[in-house]
Amino acid sequence: MRIESIRQAEHLGSVKIHGVRRILELDSGSRQGASGKSGSEAQRIDKGDIAAIEGKMAIVLPVKSEDPKVFEGVLAGVPHDCLPIIVSNSQRGEIDHFKSEQDILERFCQATQRQAIIVHQRDPFLARAIECAGYPEILDEDGFIRHGKSEGMLTGLFLAAMMGKEYIGYIDTDNFIPGAVWEYVKHYAIGFYLSTSPYTMVRILWRYKPKMLGELYFKKWGRVSELTNKHLNHFLSTKGRFETEIIKTANAGEHAMSIDLAMRLNYASGYAIETQELISILEQFGGLLPIADRTIAEKGVDIIQTETINPHLHEEREDSEHLYRDMLIPSLSVIYHSQACEESTRELIRNQIAEIEGLKLEEDVPQVTLLPPPQKADLARFAGELADQLNDISIPHGWMMAEKQTIHGTSSAAHKVVYTDLDGTLLHPVSNSYAPALTALRQLQERQIPVIFCSAKTHAEQTELRRELEVKDPFIVENGGAIFVPKDYFRLPFTYTKANQVEYVIELGALYDDIKQRLKLVAESGPGRFTTFGDMSIEEIAQVSGLNLRMAQLAKEREYSETVVMQGDKRETESVLDAITKQGLSWVFGGRFYEVSLGADKGKAVKILNELYRMNYGQIVTYGLGDGQNDAPLLAAVHHALLVQNADKRWSNLKVKDPIKVKDIGPSGWSRAVSEWVLKSP
Ligand code: GDP
Ligand code: CO
Repeated sequence: MRIESIRQAEHLGSVKIHGVRRILELDSGSRQGASGKSGSEAQRIDKGDIAAIEGKMAIVLPVKSEDPKVFEGVLAGVPHDCLPIIVSNSQRGEIDHFKSEQDILERFCQATQRQAIIVHQRDPFLARAIECAGYPEILDEDGFIRHGKSEGMLTGLFLAAMMGKEYIGYIDTDNFIPGAVWEYVKHYAIGFYLSTSPYTMVRILWRYKPKMLGELYFKKWGRVSELTNKHLNHFLSTKGRFETEIIKTANAGEHAMSIDLAMRLNYASGYAIETQELISILEQFGGLLPIADRTIAEKGVDIIQTETINPHLHEEREDSEHLYRDMLIPSLSVIYHSQACEESTRELIRNQIAEIEGLKLEEDVPQVTLLPPPQKADLARFAGELADQLNDISIPHGWMMAEKQTIHGTSSAAHKVVYTDLDGTLLHPVSNSYAPALTALRQLQERQIPVIFCSAKTHAEQTELRRELEVKDPFIVENGGAIFVPKDYFRLPFTYTKANQVEYVIELGALYDDIKQRLKLVAESGPGRFTTFGDMSIEEIAQVSGLNLRMAQLAKEREYSETVVMQGDKRETESVLDAITKQGLSWVFGGRFYEVSLGADKGKAVKILNELYRMNYGQIVTYGLGDGQNDAPLLAAVHHALLVQNADKRWSNLKVKDPIKVKDIGPSGWSRAVSEWVLKSP
């Protein structure tokens, strides 16, 4: 296909809104021209590139008792590589429209060797799965998924995400022209192909062909989109320095999103859903409200608008009044009620609604119910609850069961995650050797079980050790002072404090300078003798710690904590610790030294990572390995707490519920714990 090059775009915060682009050729042949380069008039997109995206796309088809012939035509228009997901709210019972939709789909899939999903929006098992997943907002008082196209669309989103799709596109099933359906999907794929961000929305502008339709309806639709665009553009203009008319698709029913974006938006129930999607993007990522997710803000959100060549012809409701009542007023309402809407835009909207509806001055614009981002729902639980129905909702029946492992969260085996302390656990308490644990570590790596270091050691020290052991997983430094997550490790974005070249950093503890400052005050108050790694030379650190010179240097590179070396007797030590606490600092005993920090928390760090793994992998089962007191919060935050022996062949006495006491010291105990506990369980 060939599409116009972008001529115009508006930026708001990290959102880029592209001006409408026209399709120039539906088929651009097989010869590669000189196109595709920036600066040229047009851009050619290869068939293969389009197909690759279609393979990752679900097309959600909401249907409510449409003409079977029209429905069949729509199916035929959906490109072969996409996964159709039909969400029906059609009549059932004596005259069973849903049953005939199922039959049509079955015949279609059989003849074309395709797979599809079909559900009825009012099926109790769907409602139950959504409720268990923690998204009760779309249920009605009777516990069913509410009637309505937007609730149907959200149901489709859950299913598409469960199937591990990257993109979701919506197509109405009352479309008379299969070629138009086909073209919409191509536009979606082109939009995703052209976008430079993983967070993309593609919206389609189509022109009615008025002659074939009721004149009245045509005019009204034109008016609805004109007015919604106008007010949304006014909303935008108040945010920038220039007036803009960039948005032409404020009501576009035909649109698509990357799933990662779709999961993060606030939705409106009813026909304002498409306008609200734009509002939600602008609010969250346009810098209008506090940034919800920094990763997205960094990568940016692309809103791409394209115009189709095929005419748009669809089934008309007899009652064309609904366009004003159900679409225009609610669409204006979501703009009006946005927290980011300026008074001048509100004024304009009030007047507009007063003109159409006769809204009285003292009345406020009626509010539309908003739904929270689906992101908050637990997809694994959704999938788990649906497990028994997968057979029925997949056409041909059973294919989803056969491909179960591709379905997010339905595989019975939970992902295992291992957290481990280093000093005295993976590393021998006396010799610092990890040799006895090496075989077990390799076994974990072969099975792709993450091994997360969680220790008092610094970023510099752990980086060295991770390189030696070829461990590539996230790690927790300085007793929970910060979590480092390799970039591109998790598929889904998350909030972090800062980034270095290779890692995102989630900081939990105060910075070193702050801690140092407070320790100075402790020293000045004179409770007893002590010194810190910060005040010692590398040689001195090596001497007291038994580390070699290089490791001693890395141990000195502290960012979130300070190591305190006590120099007095027991009583002196106690009063120093007391003074440390009085300064608002906290300390843990690491066996020989005291690690002093502020806000650092191994347990909290483990819980954050648990959450990230759960979000990305669905169900997880966690193991923690430790040896001493300062591992208690780590061990309390995992499913299976494994305690190895200290140098004296005894176990530390920890305040953790039922730790599993593993025979053997440090790395030997580690090895035994991995083979007897982590690898043994299914
Ligand atoms: P319009 O074409 O924008 O006027 O809106 P329609 O009422 O025709 O609906 C557009 C699409 O949504 C059509 O494919 C309908 O069959 C479908 N639809 C309408 N209401 C519902 C509903 O409650 N649930 C589902 N799943 N689909 C619906
Ligand atoms: Co319609």
